[in-house]
Amino acid sequence: MSCVMPSHLVAQFKELTGLEPTHYIRVPGRVNLIGEHTDYNGLPVMPMAIERQVRLLVAPRTDQRVEVYNTVKRYEPRTFTISPQIAPYATGDWGNYVKAGVQGIVTEALESGKALNDIRGFSALIDSSLPAAAGLSSSSALVVASALAELTVNGWSFDREKLAEQMAAAEQYVGTMGGGMDQAVILLAQAGSALKIDFFPLRITHVNLPPAYRVVICNSMIRAPKTAEARLLYNRLPIECRIATAVLARALSDRGVDQSVVRISEIVSALSPDQVLEEAEKLFGDAHWTQQQVADYLGITSQEVAARYMRLIDGATLPTPPEGFPLLRRIRHVITEGQRVEKSVKALSAGDALRFGELMNASHASCRDDYGISCPALDELVGVARSAGAVGARLTGAGFGGCTVNLVHEDKVESFVETVIDRYYGGYLKKNHPELYSGLQTRGFDDVVIVGAPQQGAEIQPLNS
Ligand code: GLA
Repeated sequence: MSCVMPSHLVAQFKELTGLEPTHYIRVPGRVNLIGEHTDYNGLPVMPMAIERQVRLLVAPRTDQRVEVYNTVKRYEPRTFTISPQIAPYATGDWGNYVKAGVQGIVTEALESGKALNDIRGFSALIDSSLPAAAGLSSSSALVVASALAELTVNGWSFDREKLAEQMAAAEQYVGTMGGGMDQAVILLAQAGSALKIDFFPLRITHVNLPPAYRVVICNSMIRAPKTAEARLLYNRLPIECRIATAVLARALSDRGVDQSVVRISEIVSALSPDQVLEEAEKLFGDAHWTQQQVADYLGITSQEVAARYMRLIDGATLPTPPEGFPLLRRIRHVITEGQRVEKSVKALSAGDALRFGELMNASHASCRDDYGISCPALDELVGVARSAGAVGARLTGAGFGGCTVNLVHEDKVESFVETVIDRYYGGYLKKNHPELYSGLQTRGFDDVVIVGAPQQGAEIQPLNS
């Protein structure tokens, strides 16, 4: 066990809960190197766990309450009772991530025949060094940490791969229709290597990064929260992919594609990525498809399109976008991004850092132009990073703000960081978002420019009291 428990947290834990902590749980954040928005489409991703993390001290309770404290004051304490259906707090409440993890474990326990009365709750103190809403998976880290706490206090063993899949489903509790990348890397990462992750079923391959290069994460400071409006921006994307998949499956039914497929990966594996792309180009053209056009093509009504493909997790329906659905662009991003992940694995196993950098750059262009998830600040930060010597630079995570990930030769890291601080933060951000820049002058840049190396996945350490 490599995690060291910080003693000041123990004192704080005892003071807040009146209990002795029994376990220390450490859960890393992640940065995605390449493969954006491919996971829920069944295509691969390549993230790594980072040193920024969620730390949690926990003690079992004799009742069924879950009581959580956070070292950050603005996250007020939350308590709730375990039940088969734990009702969420208001949208955006940090306690919902705890509830999501606990609910995932409780549901599984009840389904496997455990009695509700035998399930224990816990008291926990949470401390996070992961910036929130920055695309580094602070939310999934909290969901997984809470689940591990619930498993640990009940003395339940678990299989990491199975738990990763369960947690991907459990996190949908907060209303985001995400895939399984974050939970998988958080639970399955090994120090020293990135992971190529395939889905449905989950499969892991360890990938070595080029030894002379560093991964540098730069926070654009534009917040990318997964709440309310932003959540709708995110959820629209899996919905557009589902619609494109249904239309393509119909078009390719005479080529052996099953019409009941739900993910693009299923069509790609029936034909080949290039063939699917060619067909998609012919079928969709550059125009946006209206909901009615989709309905006509599928031979159903527009209401049926909404009911089958546009349902959000809370049961509401995605509002019909007046400009229609850019189906070709969405499909093209997802398929080419899946190919870029495969090509990256090859480049990295051949030790070709420059080729990997090119693929990262192409990924950013595709995220920006075809998937529509970049923003002016991210584009600027990527441009600055390249001029500062990054061989590859791209947005990372869900997009719409948050961080970029950069591949930088170790000899250039120092000058890279200086140039980015000078030109992006001191130049672009100061000029365009002075309110975001002013906080940085006092806080410094250690939290916004992070030089990373691949870390170990989540760890649980028993404490001998
Ligand atoms: C979020 C989701 C992931 C993935 C990324 C985009 O982080 O939680 O499952 O879809 O966005 O690659």
